[in-house]
Amino acid sequence: MEPAVFNKFRDVIFESSGIFLTEHKEALVSARIGKRMRVLNITDYGHYLQQVMSDETGGELRELVNAISTNVTHFFRENQHFDFLSGVLRQWSQNGSRQVRIWCAACASGEEPYTIAMTALESLPGTVQPRLIASDISTKVLQIAKFGVYKDSDVQNISKVLLRRYFQKGVGRAADLYRIKQEVRDLVSFNQINLSTPPYPVKGDLDMIFCRNVMIYFNQELRRRLVEHFERLLKAGGYLFVGLAESLSGAHRNLATVEPSVYQKIN
Ligand SMILES: C[S@@+](CC[C@H](N)C(=O)[O-])C[C@H]1O[C@@H](n2cnc3c(N)ncnc32)[C@H](O)[C@@H]1O
Repeated sequence: MEPAVFNKFRDVIFESSGIFLTEHKEALVSARIGKRMRVLNITDYGHYLQQVMSDETGGELRELVNAISTNVTHFFRENQHFDFLSGVLRQWSQNGSRQVRIWCAACASGEEPYTIAMTALESLPGTVQPRLIASDISTKVLQIAKFGVYKDSDVQNISKVLLRRYFQKGVGRAADLYRIKQEVRDLVSFNQINLSTPPYPVKGDLDMIFCRNVMIYFNQELRRRLVEHFERLLKAGGYLFVGLAESLSGAHRNLATVEPSVYQKIN
């Protein structure tokens, strides 16, 4: 790819998603864009860039972001967070909470919000309703998440008990597929939300926010802004979870570290 074209792609991607690509990412960017170009039968990167820029509906820009974003995820990823979540939910329900609202802010193909939902169902008595908002910038992964169907290789981290309780196994030609049950899907509402363009269409007073393994793609300034908004959306005593390889940069005086990559809003 011509350096000028690559730089323009970098700008467009940064402006539309906050995803910050360094010069070293050229091979990755070329490969991911190349895949989309093959679908459209375009062979020249410059021509594809023009197509993105001239599409006033924003549809091709959406496809570009879908192509560029890294959507790796799995059930019970960074499992210590779910042990912690379970402990907090048990405590809250003993203290009389009747509702728990959680935002999963870069939910990819759904494994993370469904893990949160299963953990909540396991930890809370039937009298406490967990409610989840799950969002991502990528429309492609949101479609998968809403459908909630996973291959048997995807569900290997899930215990047999939970698999039986919360998934429906396919039959016949779908025998290697599992669908998360309707009762779990009903707890989660999926929406497209771009974290690079606050404010977010999410009601405040949240009990928890999960924003894991996405801030690594953003620059310092966006991370700082993001966390400021999360801080505002959390209720006092609520928790923010980030990826284990991530940590909050900058001063967030109202957030105290309580576990590796888990922060609690003080007041
Ligand atoms: C590596 S996955 C992490 C998924 C999950 N949180 C986890 O930890 O397993 C990163 C996700 O962030 C999403 N993402 C990237 N930029 C985003 C943005 N500006 N707004 C919302 N989501 C974004 C990607 O589409 C992708 O699904």
